[in-house]
Formats: sequence, structure tokens, C-alpha cells
Amino acid sequence: MQIVMGVTGGIAAYKACEVVSRLKKLGHEVDVIMTENATRLVAPLTFETLSKRPVCVDTFTRTESWDVKHISLAQKADLFLVAPATANLLAKLACGIADDMLTTTLLATKAPILLAPAMNTGMWTADATQANFRTLQARGVHFVGPQSGFLACGDTGAGRMSEPVQIVEAAEKLLHPCRDLEGLRVLVTAGPTLERIDPVRYLTNDSSGKMGYAIAAAARARGASVTLVSGPVHLATPTGVTVVPVVSTQDLYDAMMAHCSSQDIIIQAAAPADYRPAVTAPEKLKKQDGQPFTLTLAENPDVAKAVGEQKKPGQILVGFAAETEHLLENAQKKLDKKHLDMIVANDVTQAGAGFGVDTNIVTLITHDGATELPMLPKSEVAARILDKVSELRTKAN
Ligand code: PMT
Repeated sequence: MQIVMGVTGGIAAYKACEVVSRLKKLGHEVDVIMTENATRLVAPLTFETLSKRPVCVDTFTRTESWDVKHISLAQKADLFLVAPATANLLAKLACGIADDMLTTTLLATKAPILLAPAMNTGMWTADATQANFRTLQARGVHFVGPQSGFLACGDTGAGRMSEPVQIVEAAEKLLHPCRDLEGLRVLVTAGPTLERIDPVRYLTNDSSGKMGYAIAAAARARGASVTLVSGPVHLATPTGVTVVPVVSTQDLYDAMMAHCSSQDIIIQAAAPADYRPAVTAPEKLKKQDGQPFTLTLAENPDVAKAVGEQKKPGQILVGFAAETEHLLENAQKKLDKKHLDMIVANDVTQAGAGFGVDTNIVTLITHDGATELPMLPKSEVAARILDKVSELRTKAN
């Protein structure tokens, strides 16, 4: 297949040579585009020798053929990989800046884009870079890494480029996407619910929706027709996914009851409030002049349990368990009580797990056993959950 590979000016550029070499050994055609800065770190001749094609650096270089080079490369790519991708590249791509051969070609391409970020920890964790990372992820740009480890600048932390073998693996996955959910209907829940106290106050929790949205996007990419019942979040709708917005747990219950019977797979990553104010005040509540204020709560429906009680033959039901203690015992109880086929247990007290963050640390528990996963980006957790769901479907049929 045809891969266009961008190389930007990070010290990890030397590892990009191995990426090109590995891609060539797998039989791919690779066109390399380097930034000016990258050419100071590795000579274009190295990439030309490995790829057996001319390397592009300057948008205005005259070539023998009369095509417009950045457009023709953008169009012929089955995959556009950038390794290493510097903070500068992420920022330009997020803003649509096209001021050299690499960024003009990237902006013009319709191919899947895979970035392997590499930079100093401070640059990776900077608010601007993280915002650019999230923007690009929301637009469907794929990432491999960065990893944590010893960095060329002497620091230790996140920002190290993934190893060439991992980058090539990620590229292969995108070039040969798994379509195991083709023709299936998948219903996903995501985000918090919000329970009104009065017109200006409410009860809610810290769910950002990232976990559920990652599952919806991954299921769609694997060919499923996806409906996402979402609480109030600030995330872009994944491409091709139908969103049903809800606010309260009662809304979530109503939406799930309307949709659940027609689904093949239901994955409930939402964090619905278990309680709501027994009465929602029609006007803003006033202070009590120093007296304690008592809010009476009423129990909300258990949506997952209700869905489980209506389980259709052949349906696969997956729930999540957000726990702060006795992770496995509590999750196991929910697996049984809610009639689930699998529960994704996350100890939300661990750094890098649970609410708000881009990663999660989970154990997948089925009736046959448990699989503990390391800390992974939520997109990868989503992929592992869907792999397990596919396995369960195969066993059931
Ligand atoms: O949204 P993010 O910021 O990415 O964070 C992800 C997450 C922490 C929200 C997610 O990984 C997660 O753990 N979701 C489940 C949160 C939760 O409500 O856990 P629980 O153990 O209270 O509920 C167990 C299961 O029952 C869940 O599938 C939940 O959706 C469901 N439930 C809970 C309460 C309720 N009234 N009705 C339900 O259906």
C-alpha cells in the first residue's frame, strides 16, 4: 500500500529510518516528506536510499512530472504517518497551518493520519499541546505514543517516541482495519447525568464522556451502526455515530428503553447519578439564614439492571464498574446483578484511571475469568473491550 511519511525535526528522526525500512520490508511504497529542520538531523539521502524514492522537502522544487506534488502525494496516500511528530507539527495541524511541504500535504489529505509524537515532557504536558492533541483526536487523527522514559534532553517522563516496531504495528492496524462488527447494531452510553436541584444548581459527577465516546468511535470504525446515548459533555460527535442527548438518569433510562431491544451489543460506560433531588425547586432556592439546609434525595432507576432484565437472546451486554475499594468483588456483584456478559472494572482512585483523564486502567471480567490490562489510552481500552465482545459473540454462536 501507499504510505506518505512525514519526518519532523526531533532527535527521534533517526528512528524514522527504521520505520521506513520496516514498512518497505512489509511491501509498502513509502514517500518521505521531511521538514527543513528534520534535514539537519538526518540526511534526506538516508531516507531516499531506504525508500528508493526521492524525498520531498521544498514545496517549490521542480520535478520531471507536471503534477502538483503536495496534492498528488496527499491523494495517493492510503495512510499518512508522521514520525516523529513535534509539538510544532501538532500545533500547525490543529490550526490548519500549511507553510511547508509537509503541512500543506497533510492539510490536503483525506487518508487516515497517524502521528507518533516525540518531544520533551514539558512540551508534551503543556496546556497548548494537550489541547491540540485533544482537538486532533476529536477530528479522528490517530496517535501512537508518546511513551514515558528517558528523553534525549536528559529528562525522564512522557514524550518519548514509540519504538519503530510499535509505530509499524499501529500503521498496519490502520491499513488493514478490523471490520468484525460490520452489520451489527451497537448502543453505547457515555458521560455523566445531571440532576436539577433548582433552575441554577444541579448534582452531577466528573465523567467527561471520553471512555464512552472512544468506544462509540472504535465500534463505528469496526463497521457497526452505532447509537451513543450521551449525558452533557464537551466532546465532538464521532464521525458516523448517531447521538441521543440526555440530561438526567431518568432521560437515560427512557432513551435506553426506547433503543435497547433492537441492539446486538450494549456497552454502558456512562456514570448515571444514583440519586436525584426528590423535588426540583421551580425557583432559585434561598439561603436559610445560617440554618442547615437539607436536600432530600430520591433513588434513580438502575438503567443497566433494567436493560439486563430485558436482555434479548444473543445480545451482549457490557457494563462498567467505577470503584474506590474492593474492585473485583464489587465489579463481580454488578456483573451478576445487572445480567451482564462482561463488566469493565476500573479503580477510579488510581492515577491515569477513570474520570476525566485520557487513559484508563481496567480489568475485563466475564463469567469465564478476568483479564487485567495495563494503563492504556482510552482508545486502546475501547479496542480491547471490543476484541473481548467479539470473542464472546464467537463463543455464543
Ligand atoms: O467519562 P470519562 O471521564 O471518560 O470516565 C470514564 C468512567 C470512569 C465514567 C467509566 O470508565 C466508568 O467507570 N463508567 C461507569 C461509571 C458508573 O456509574 O459506575 P457504577 O459502578 O456506579 O455503575 C455500574 C454500571 O451501572 C455502569 O455501567 C453504569 O453505567 C450503570 N448504572 C449505574 C447507575 C445507574 N443508576 N444506572 C446505571 O445504569
